Amino acid sequence: MPVLCYQITGATTPNARSTTGALDGQLSAILKCDHAEANAQVYSELAANRLAAFLGIPVVIGVPAVDAQGESPVRFAALRAAEAGLNFYDFTSDDHGDPDECAVYDTPPLPAGVLLSAGHLRAVQSLCEKYPLQTAAIAVFDLWIGNNDRAFNFKAQLAARERGVIFALDQGSSLLACHAEVGDSLRELENAGFPSFHPFQKLVNARYCGAMVERISSMPDWAVQAATTYDDTVGNVTLDEQYATYGALLARKQFLGGLVDRVLL
Ligand SMILES: Nc1ncnc2c1ncn2[C@@H]1O[C@H](COP(=O)(O)OP(=O)(O)O)[C@@H](O)[C@H]1O
Ligand SMILES: [Mg+2]
Repeated sequence: MPVLCYQITGATTPNARSTTGALDGQLSAILKCDHAEANAQVYSELAANRLAAFLGIPVVIGVPAVDAQGESPVRFAALRAAEAGLNFYDFTSDDHGDPDECAVYDTPPLPAGVLLSAGHLRAVQSLCEKYPLQTAAIAVFDLWIGNNDRAFNFKAQLAARERGVIFALDQGSSLLACHAEVGDSLRELENAGFPSFHPFQKLVNARYCGAMVERISSMPDWAVQAATTYDDTVGNVTLDEQYATYGALLARKQFLGGLVDRVLL
C-alpha cells in the first residue's frame, strides 16, 4: 500500500549542523485544544494516537505542541495529510443525500443494521470492500477506546483497482473526551455497551475483527501504560485521571469481544 505522507508547507532551508543534507522546514497541522465540549480533548487525542501507533491502526500521526515561548496551552497537532492531486474521497464533508432513500430504493440492498445516520452510505460500503483489514482494525479500535464519533472522521482513495491509502483522523471524542467532562467519560468507559454504534457496523469482515480483538487483547500492559500515562498533567488531565484511563482500557479488553459481536457483526 502507498505510504501516507504529510504536507510540507513553504520554503525549506539547509540545516546548519546536518552532515547529510537535512533541511529545516515546516509541516502543516491541525492544532486542537481542550474545549468546553471535550475538556480532555488534547490528552485523549494524544493517548489514542500512541495506542494506534502501537497497534498499527491507520490514523494520522499527531504530537503535543506549544508556541516557541512554551507559554501557550498544550495543543494536539494532527499532521495534515498530503492529499493534493491524490483523489481522496472526503468522508469528512457533509453528505446531503437522504439515507433512508438510499437504503430503501438502491440496489443491491445494504446489509440490515447499517448505520444510516453516518452519511456517505454507498461510499462507506465500497470503502469496507476495498479496505477490509483497515476498516475492521479502525472499528474494533474505536470500540475499545470508546470513540463514538468516527462518522465524518476518515478519508480514503476509493477509485477502483488502484491500491490506495485510507486514514482515520480525530480521536478527540474518545477516552476521557467521550463526554464533555472527564468524570462522565470515565464512568462511560466502564459501560460494556458503549459505544453502541459505528459507521462501519455490519460492513466489516468478522475474521479481521476477530484478529483485531486478539491483537488488542494481547497488547502488553506496559504498552498501554506508556501510551496513556505521562509524568505531568496533559492539558486539563491529571496523573490520577491518566492512570484511571489506563485501568479503564485494561478492563475494556475483557468485554471487547462481546461488544464487537453486538455492534459490528
Ligand atoms: N491530519 C489531517 N489531515 C487532513 N485533514 C484533516 C486532518 N485533521 C483534520 N482534518 C480536516 O479538518 C477537519 C476538522 O478536524 P477534526 O480533527 O475532525 O476536528 P473536530 O474535532 O472539530 O471535528 C476534519 O473533518 C478534516 O476534514
Ligand atoms: Mg472531526
